[in-house]
Amino acid sequence: MQIIEILNTEPKEQEITVKGWVRTKRGQSALAFVHINDGSTIHNIQAVVDGEKVPEEVMKKVTCGACVAITGKLVASAGSGQNVEVQAESVEVYGEADETFPIQPKKHSLEFLREKAHLRFRTSTFSAVFRIRHHLSHAVHQFFHEQNFFYLHTPIITASDAEGAGEMFRITTFEANKAPVNEAGEVDFKEDFFGKETSLTVSGQLEGELGALALSRIYTFGPTFRAENSNTTRHLAEFWMIEPEMAFFELMENMDLAESFTKYVIKYVVENCKDDLAFLDNRFNQENKAKPQNERSEHTLIEKLNFVLENEFARITYTEAVDILLQSKPHKKKKFKFPVEWGIDLQSEHERYLVEKHFKKPVIITDYPKDIKAFYMKQNDDGKTVAAMDVLFPGIGEMIGGSQREENLDKLHTRIKEMNIEEESLWWYLETRKYGTAPHAGFGLGFERLVQFVTGMGNIRDVIAFPRTPGNVEF
Ligand code: 4AD
Ligand code: MG
Repeated sequence: MQIIEILNTEPKEQEITVKGWVRTKRGQSALAFVHINDGSTIHNIQAVVDGEKVPEEVMKKVTCGACVAITGKLVASAGSGQNVEVQAESVEVYGEADETFPIQPKKHSLEFLREKAHLRFRTSTFSAVFRIRHHLSHAVHQFFHEQNFFYLHTPIITASDAEGAGEMFRITTFEANKAPVNEAGEVDFKEDFFGKETSLTVSGQLEGELGALALSRIYTFGPTFRAENSNTTRHLAEFWMIEPEMAFFELMENMDLAESFTKYVIKYVVENCKDDLAFLDNRFNQENKAKPQNERSEHTLIEKLNFVLENEFARITYTEAVDILLQSKPHKKKKFKFPVEWGIDLQSEHERYLVEKHFKKPVIITDYPKDIKAFYMKQNDDGKTVAAMDVLFPGIGEMIGGSQREENLDKLHTRIKEMNIEEESLWWYLETRKYGTAPHAGFGLGFERLVQFVTGMGNIRDVIAFPRTPGNVEF
């Protein structure tokens, strides 16, 4: 039985075996109290070990970090904080851990634990984060399944740059410095594995659109890769993205879906991960208290989540957003680092002002200038903007980016030319506009940013098991 099950079992002095890792040991060899955790729950189980039953040589090996199997009677616990405990009859030590075990029962910084990413799952914080991450991904699949979406596995290796941002990791089987060269002196990718230049995908969207223009509603949920050199608390070089794509959806329906989707998955965690959330709520509130007054969140973590569930997201156009920023105190007092004017790409300081100071709730911004958005977005009649939408969350910034797609072949052609995009590698994408094109829309949600919002973790490196960031690929 796992500890989660044992803790919910009625104690009748029945024999059970608890298997897990020792979190703490207190007491003496005559009578010791061992707290064990197996990761199935945030809660430990206590084993009471009588020195007369278990030899001292064995108990010496029961130290913090060791892995043990303790067999004994399940009894009601007299101590506070737990309903049941185990009265040990015998102890088997599977794996010892000496005093060099880095995760001793004291407070460790997240930075320290990042360097011990192979062991940090054994802390309450990280085990809670990764259980919640699991529940969130389960809720993602459940939501889409209920709405008649099909999960499409789009490729990871690609020969096109979906976002046109040129932030791709190349893949090749050429050995460094030994790549064949053509007559012009350039690397000859015809000789490479795929006969073309290839990279890791930045988004499954383009292939997702092909699926949606036949299956009507699809979603992808897979790893994506960006070689942007951003060392921030919101960027990873390898992250997981959820990308629904819907035939016959226009921008409004796309926004409605984004809002109901995020609310659904957050609600799922609030209802199904109460113990882990209570733990992280406590952690969040402690950290919050230690922050300077002007950076403190007004709400606890759980209040924040409920607040999102209970309130409608604000919806404004980019032009309205710029107007709000131009009227804002920080703009007037020249407090923004980046100047505000129509046409700029909103910087995170601007997004934070809109979400955290002005609206104080998630905000959907639509209809961005076409020049700062990708080629595939539907061109609005004004000739200046596209039917884009970004969903911004308090404390996170951009959580979702999406749009209605340009379904008109001529307009798409023109835009691709204007943006100097290599059309050849996109012939298959363009053919969907030639044969039975349809209005459609979709978006991409950065899964780690969602996990950050729900768990209250400040750094994106702490919500993915083994983060990849510039200069960091250990483990
Ligand atoms: O806004 P982005 O670049 O949009 C796309 O890739 C579209 N193809 C999505 C679509 O319409 N199907 O990325 C989508 C989201 C962002 O809003 C952000 O949450 C996340 O992906 N994201 C990152 N998360 C972590 N690290 C990074 N480097 C990220 N870049 C984007
Ligand atoms: Mg974006």
